[in-house]
Amino acid sequence: MKVLVTYYSETGNTEKVARAIFDGVQKAEKDLFPIGDVDGVEDYDLIFVGFPVHANSVPPGVEPFLRAIPEGKKVALFATHGSLRGGKLATTAFEYAMSLASKARIIGTFSCRGKVKASLLEELLKKPEHAAWAEEAQSSAATHPDDADLAEGEAFGRKMAKKVRTQP
Ligand SMILES: Cc1cc2nc3c(=O)[nH]c(=O)nc-3n(C[C@H](O)[C@H](O)[C@H](O)COP(=O)(O)O)c2cc1C
Repeated sequence: MKVLVTYYSETGNTEKVARAIFDGVQKAEKDLFPIGDVDGVEDYDLIFVGFPVHANSVPPGVEPFLRAIPEGKKVALFATHGSLRGGKLATTAFEYAMSLASKARIIGTFSCRGKVKASLLEELLKKPEHAAWAEEAQSSAATHPDDADLAEGEAFGRKMAKKVRTQP
């Protein structure tokens, strides 16, 4: 079995989670690449695709990759976001990602919080359309992803890989 973990990350949060997921994948040949370095996905039995939530959605750079995922390919999505966990924003971003990867078989999702760079936060707090999540991020995202998030990411990697290994 061959597994790809790929991610887009601007300030390193999503990359940390990608590395944890990668560590969790066992009993498989595996690769870890930033999305821009991926050279074809045909050979993989499972692809993890990760991104930071940007403006309640998927960053534009990730969209073409999701759209190009071939028919029936097994995909697990992961994301980091400044807003609170379990909130509507991350769910909306995943729903949009799923609509882009409409030919793929999505086998699971995982998300956790990620700190937001201070310069951006100041700017966003002033904008009504962003103020709600930016306030949440300001109050408590600064320590994320933390060890507990990364341990959960690792467990997600292990679980998804096992799912594909045992249910062909
Ligand atoms: C341009 C931009 C827009 C963002 N929009 C959102 C948002 O709508 N909701 C949210 O919860 N976090 C938002 N964030 C916060 C990021 O999702 C969060 O900091 C993430 O962990 C960054 O991941 P990275 O370090 O891998 O780039 C935004 C960050 C940036 C830079």
